[in-house]
Amino acid sequence: MAAYKITPGTKIGGEVRISGSKNASLPIIAASLLSDRQTVLHNIPRLSDTENMCDLITSAGSSVKLENEHDLIISPGSITPKASHMEQASKLRASFLIIGPMLAKYGWAKIPLPGGCRIGARPIDLHLKGFTAMGAKIRQGHGYVELKCDRLNPTRIYLDFPSVGATENLMNAACLIDGETVIENAATEPEVVDLAGFLTAMGADIYGAGTDTVRIIGKKRLGHAEYTIIPDRIEAGTFMLIAAVTKSNLRLENVISDHLKPVIAKLNEAGICITECGGCLEVIPCERIKAVDIKTLPYPGFPTDMQAQFMSLMSVADGTGVVVETVFENRFMQVPELIRMGAKIKIDGRTAVIDGTKRLSGAKVKATDLRAGAALVIAALAAQGDSEIENTEHIERGYERFEEKLSSIGVNIKKE
Ligand code: UD1
Repeated sequence: MAAYKITPGTKIGGEVRISGSKNASLPIIAASLLSDRQTVLHNIPRLSDTENMCDLITSAGSSVKLENEHDLIISPGSITPKASHMEQASKLRASFLIIGPMLAKYGWAKIPLPGGCRIGARPIDLHLKGFTAMGAKIRQGHGYVELKCDRLNPTRIYLDFPSVGATENLMNAACLIDGETVIENAATEPEVVDLAGFLTAMGADIYGAGTDTVRIIGKKRLGHAEYTIIPDRIEAGTFMLIAAVTKSNLRLENVISDHLKPVIAKLNEAGICITECGGCLEVIPCERIKAVDIKTLPYPGFPTDMQAQFMSLMSVADGTGVVVETVFENRFMQVPELIRMGAKIKIDGRTAVIDGTKRLSGAKVKATDLRAGAALVIAALAAQGDSEIENTEHIERGYERFEEKLSSIGVNIKKE
């Protein structure tokens, strides 16, 4: 188990280049299975999650080559994948994203039930409901789910909740279905739109990605595509908060500001100024951070993946802020650790009330999941005295070369 030791108080500034989006890369790497030809992906972040997804498609028969650190060259498999191979490879929660492409291509998929961040139950019932409507037969055993079909049929699917993963998985499967599949109450996240961009580049016909109704007209075959992944909006948001909490100027390169609207709006409300400069954003901090209220929602609402990090900022803001988490039922894992650092937070169900305090104190704390871990790094930078953050492998699942990027902007951080 690795740990970060952070000594706050150093001068922070300069620029950070934001990596490709983890959450766009995962469904896109899975979708490459749909093609009969080679696909080339640029701007893939090097993270344990993307490596695990590459292992998974390799087990499914693809050959994957990494070039220039961030480019993947994926060639289709010539073998039919076997269950034993697939189970071995699947170490990530997003392994469920393989179901759609596998089912459409091979008429079969088997995966262990999802692991990953422990943020609530995270079921996959919406995915399974959609595949059933497409004609798949589902069998659930001890710790795994197996799906089979002779062929998938076009259908109309209404999602009870605009699940990002279910929208992506069903969109992927629909690309090889003869006829028109419609997904209603679909997720509208930028990562869904990016996946649609990749599928379109492979030859699929997709209409309405980014709205709540997506229509997919499947093709017999999908072909070659070369595609560049969007920048990671959550990594960008996290660095904005690092600048805000340390009252530093920071320039972020390779960002799409449109994807960050809800985060920028809340930072502005807290008194922090963000200026745009053609593909870059500059954070101009303020001396006194104002408390704000946050309610997480599906896109374009405030992202649940930025909730924990905002709570750290609000722990040192002027006044009282309220955070309501509506997307996941158990996503306040950072709170006991922030309290150990002196934060004043009370939780009642899915609501947290944060009373800002002048300064937090450095402490030994544990990262319990990816974004909770990032929140602790932000809190450590706002604290007086050293902090040690344990279990940083959670953080490194989602932030590429995090320690190196933090050091490059002046953070005194050591990995132990
Ligand atoms: C994705 C992101 C994750 C982000 C989340 C919400 C990836 C790899 N991960 O996760 O970082 O926090 O979107 O923006 O892209 N649900 C069900 N049944 C289902 C599916 C989901 O009840 O079949 C529930 C979940 O438990 C959760 C909510 O729906 O409460 C949202 O989940 P979903 O949008 O599916 O998130 P993920 O795709 O898992």
